[in-house]
Amino acid sequence: MIIGVPKEIAPGERRVALVPDSVKQLVGLGPEVVVESGAGVEAGFEDTAYAEAGARIVEGAAEALAADLVLKVQMPGESAAGHEVDSLREGGALISFLKPLDQTDVTERLAARGTTAFSMELMPRITRAQSMDALSSQSTIAGYKSVLMAADQLPRIFPMLVTAAGTLQPARLLVVGVGVAGLQALGTAKRLGAITYGYDTRAVVREQVESLGARFVELDLDAGDSEDSGGYAKAQSEEFYQRQRAELGKHVAASDVVITTALVPGQPAPLLIEADAVRAMRPGSVIVDLAAEKGGNCELTRADENVLDSGVTIIGHTNLPAEVPAHASQMYGKNLVTFLDHLLEEGVLTLDFEDEITGGAVVTHAGQLVNERLGGSLPKAETAPDASGAEGEEG
Ligand code: NAI
Repeated sequence: MIIGVPKEIAPGERRVALVPDSVKQLVGLGPEVVVESGAGVEAGFEDTAYAEAGARIVEGAAEALAADLVLKVQMPGESAAGHEVDSLREGGALISFLKPLDQTDVTERLAARGTTAFSMELMPRITRAQSMDALSSQSTIAGYKSVLMAADQLPRIFPMLVTAAGTLQPARLLVVGVGVAGLQALGTAKRLGAITYGYDTRAVVREQVESLGARFVELDLDAGDSEDSGGYAKAQSEEFYQRQRAELGKHVAASDVVITTALVPGQPAPLLIEADAVRAMRPGSVIVDLAAEKGGNCELTRADENVLDSGVTIIGHTNLPAEVPAHASQMYGKNLVTFLDHLLEEGVLTLDFEDEITGGAVVTHAGQLVNERLGGSLPKAETAPDASGAEGEEG
C-alpha cells in the first residue's frame, strides 16, 4: 500500500500531515510513504529528513494525491491543477480534517469520487482514541499561541514586578470556554505571571480551572445539563445567551486579556461578548477569539483580521496551529500514525465500521455518506479493496 503526503495548499497553512519521525513509524507498519517535495519545509522539515526516514520524495502533488491513502491536514481544496479531490485515486482513501459538519460540498465530492474518507474532527473522544484526537492536539497548540499573541499585542507585561522604577500590576486574563484550548491558555498565562480567570457552561470545568491556579468565574445563570454524551457543550437558548452576555460583560471589562474559545459542535459560535463590553475595557486590552472561524464569540471579531475598536485589539486568527507548524505537525502526525496503527492489519487498510473509532471517524465510503452523525448509515465490516489491494473480508 502507498501512502501519500502532498504539500498543503490552503493559504497560510504551514503544517504537514507527517513529520519525518511519523514517516519512520509508518514505514515500520508496512506501507510505502511518498512525500511531495517541500511538503514539510514550512514546518522546518527538509526533503532530506523525510528521505532519511524512509519516504520517497516526489515532485509535484499528483503522485502523492494518487496514492492508495492520502494524508492531509486541511480538507482538499482548489489548486492551480484543479480540485484536489479530482486528483485522488478513485476508490482510494483519505484521512484529513474535513469540516464535515460545516462543509457538505467537499464531503459530497469525496463520496462521488468513491473515496473512503475519515474526518479527524469526528474522532470519538473516548479514552482509547485519545492519542488519535487531533482536535485536542491542535487546540493545545492554539491555546498556547493565543496567549503569546495576546502578550505580544498588550502594551503591558503579564507578571507583577516590584522594581526600583516602581511596581507593575499583573495582567488579568479571562478565558471564556475552558475546553482543551482554554485550559492550555490558562496554564500558559499563569506561567507568564498573569492573574487568570476561567468560565465555562460545563460544571465539571470549575475543578480543572482551579487546578491550574485560576479562579472560576461564577455567573448567576443556570446552564442546566450543559454537557452532551461526547463531553461537548450543549447549545443554550437565546434567552440564556442574552443573560450570559450581560453577566459576562463586567468580567470582560475588568480584564486586560480575554481569550474566547466557546464552541458548540455543528453550530455557529455562540455570541458571548457584545461590542459594549469591549468598549468598556481599558484601551490597550486584547481579545483573542479562537472561535473566529465559526463566526466568533465576540461581536467585533472579523475572521483573519486584527480589529482595533476603542483602543481594544480583537484578534480573529482562524488557524493558530499553523503558526506553530513544527510541533503542531509533530502532534498531528502522531495522531495519524496511531489511527493508522488501528486501521492497518499487516500493512493493509482493514475497515471494521462497527468499531467505535473507525465507524466514528469515517465520513464517506463506496460512493455514500456513511457517518451516522451526518445522517448516513454505516456499512458492515469489510476490507476496502481499492484502498489496500487486499481481498474483501465480509463481516
Ligand atoms: P470545544 O472546542 O467544542 O468548545 C470549547 C469550550 O467552550 C468547551 O469547554 C465548551 O464547554 C465551551 N462552551 C461552549 N459554549 C459555551 C458558552 N456559552 N459559554 C462558555 N463556554 C462555552 O471543546 P473542546 O476543547 O473540544 O473540549 C470538549 C470536551 O471534550 C471537554 O470536556 C474536553 O475535556 C473533552 N475532551 C475529552 C477527551 C477524551 O476523553 N478523550 C479528549 C479531548 C477533549
